[in-house]
Amino acid sequence: MTIYNFDEMIERRHSNSLKWDKYQGTDILPLWVADMDFRVSPAITHALKKRVEHGIFGYSRPPDELIQVVINMLKEHYDWPVEKDWVVWLPGVVPGLSAACRAIGQPGDEAICCTPIYHHFLHVPARSNRQLKTVPLQLEQGRWTFDFDALESAFTEKTALFMLCNPHNPTGTVFNKDELQHLASLCAQHNVVICSDDIHCGLILDEYKKHIPISVAAPEIADKTITLMAPSKTFNLAGLNASFAIIPDRHLRQQLTSATKSILPSISPFAFDAALAAFRDSEDWRQQLLVYLRQNRDLLNTKINQLEPLSMTKIEGTYLAWINIEQLGLDNPIKYFESFGLGFSPGKEFGDDRFIRLNFGCTQATLIEALKRLEIALTCHRQ
Ligand SMILES: Cc1ncc(COP(=O)(O)O)c(C=O)c1O
Repeated sequence: MTIYNFDEMIERRHSNSLKWDKYQGTDILPLWVADMDFRVSPAITHALKKRVEHGIFGYSRPPDELIQVVINMLKEHYDWPVEKDWVVWLPGVVPGLSAACRAIGQPGDEAICCTPIYHHFLHVPARSNRQLKTVPLQLEQGRWTFDFDALESAFTEKTALFMLCNPHNPTGTVFNKDELQHLASLCAQHNVVICSDDIHCGLILDEYKKHIPISVAAPEIADKTITLMAPSKTFNLAGLNASFAIIPDRHLRQQLTSATKSILPSISPFAFDAALAAFRDSEDWRQQLLVYLRQNRDLLNTKINQLEPLSMTKIEGTYLAWINIEQLGLDNPIKYFESFGLGFSPGKEFGDDRFIRLNFGCTQATLIEALKRLEIALTCHRQ
């Protein structure tokens, strides 16, 4: 068995990395945007090298084998029998979310999501002439979940779309079957289409949890769903823009594809090659990644909950931690932590400024150094 070395420190400075270049020329550790500091699986590198050596990079189309591999993966991992025609390739999940806003309902209609949430959810409706309505998640027994009473009163006759994020960025919740069925029945009652962003579905850290696509939890509403997935988070391919939507209903599929016409570019041959190598040949890499991320998660969880007055809930999925810093009473938490060499994402960006988000998709050495710096930042704050 090949053992992958996730402890290897790979220099990402001077490689046009969004994550690392933000703090160019400083000693700040970038723990913000959601990509990981790990090299991709050798199978992916091999596939990309082969494409480079071919030397022609014309327009591409999804390889038949990739479609079959995706269908097999969905059946095997989620017991989801998906048909070939249901798969729509997209150059990114955010463009898919944006297209869903444009495709569903009419200008002025409402799109609902639950906050905090990955920041693009908060901006895509307005960019498609839709109105955003947000409903806060609630903390229940140390876990972020839906507030169904609040949700129920949020739906109106103008609500056309519910934008779900599962596994949830930034709280790390992996919604269970009951939660998804309850949400699905509310949406069905109000004739609302669900666009579910499942980009983090390959990153379930809790051994007792499983990812369940909402169409699988509630097959009766499958015809009113668009599920967005990608190899990008799980296999660290965010810069390659390979994503897909699963849309069982033909009409809904047409609506989405016509909303993307002349706007979205075609998918690059690199994206298809990398996606195939990811789903077909990189499962052992993913399994070892999960072991590593679980260790990071546990390290972080233990430490943060010792560092009063910080707190965090256990992360069920993703490599993102949602940390409550409210008790520190900082005016500008991001600036404060940057002055101690820590680059976090501001909670405000996700709709709640009492928090910061920490990306632990990094080496354990980086995480340990970050936790040391965090301890110093808190000691200085107390003084
Ligand atoms: C929930 C979620 N959706 C979408 C994206 C980005 O997707 P893409 O780069 O494919 O547009 C991210 C990236 O962090 C994310 O966390």
